[in-house]
Amino acid sequence: QDDLVVLGIETSCDDTAAAVVRGNGEILSQVVSSQADLLAQYGGVAPKMAEEAHLQVIDQVVQEALDKAKLTERNLSAIAVTVGPGLGLCLRVGVRKARKIAGSFNLPIIGVHHMEAHALVARLNERELQFPFMALLISGGHNLLVLARDLGQYIQLGTTIDDAIGEAYDKTAKWLGLDLRRSGGPAIEELAREGDAKSIKFSTPMKQHKDCNFSYAGLKTQVRLAIESKNINATIPISSASSEDRRTRADIAASFQRVAVLHLEERCERAIEWALKIEPSVKYLVVSGGVASNQYVRARLDQVVQRNSLRLVCPPPSLCTDNGVMVAWTGIENFRMGRFDPPPPADEPEDIV
Ligand code: KG4
Ligand code: ZN
Repeated sequence: QDDLVVLGIETSCDDTAAAVVRGNGEILSQVVSSQADLLAQYGGVAPKMAEEAHLQVIDQVVQEALDKAKLTERNLSAIAVTVGPGLGLCLRVGVRKARKIAGSFNLPIIGVHHMEAHALVARLNERELQFPFMALLISGGHNLLVLARDLGQYIQLGTTIDDAIGEAYDKTAKWLGLDLRRSGGPAIEELAREGDAKSIKFSTPMKQHKDCNFSYAGLKTQVRLAIESKNINATIPISSASSEDRRTRADIAASFQRVAVLHLEERCERAIEWALKIEPSVKYLVVSGGVASNQYVRARLDQVVQRNSLRLVCPPPSLCTDNGVMVAWTGIENFRMGRFDPPPPADEPEDIV
């Protein structure tokens, strides 16, 4: 069914995104409106404000996705929308929009799990990527290791017991006085290239736990203490710091990144061992989610999979961070298997969702 055309809508966190994707994987359009300015101003996501920001742009983002694809709602086969996990107020903006269009144009709806979408989008480019495969999903809100046995059949091998790795990147960036008009992760990745990753000895989390779970709260505290002990003043932006101060900040960024990623490496090693016991035919580790756009993360995990004779599959950065393409594509995969809801009534009241 390559002639399917699906609109995907994503509003689970701080990005309002929409995209139109064809059944054969062709991306007809992709639009993301980010709340980065709001985030920089308030130092984090405030649900009510994020909801307002989604409401302001959702109609425009969806219209732009249709216009860029040179289509109207009448050309669509179905609408896919993220239904969770995420901030309830924000998810609702996307779901209402999806149901409104679906009701008016008599289109089926596919409710999409945000993390499943991060994992499955890897199959859009990589047609050889068949089930079963492993996935490491690393973002601002989630750290998950799963064994994907089939569509909709996922075994969770590990999750975070406190913070996700992206949260640790974002806080470290904030405490180091980096420019937060872009998200913290890329800023740390860039600064870390100037630093000595072995200069500060942070301890690797969860060494004594022989499982595949993650913890980043302790590492965050270690970083905060190191920053305090070196008298770094985050109110002085890095652009105005002395060269010695800049060097210290770069050393902290590099040392943090080394240990944050070492934790991923260790958990993946063990998870591969576990997964191969359950599914000996596993050949791929998918790494997706915002943090997977990091080149250092990719290079280190590539070594892990090579040691274990697997292959690493990382979607391109624009498909790693939150986007509408992953939602549309997951919609397509589910639609093909008959997993969708019938069109809602055209006169459905908005507050039903
Ligand atoms: O998947 P995503 O866009 O949203 C969530 O579902 O959370 O991930 C956002 C997270 C943020 O914490 C951001 O700092 C991080 O991904 N991130 C990165 C990089 N690009 C984005 N972390 C490290 N290095 C990067 N290059
Ligand atoms: Zn995400």
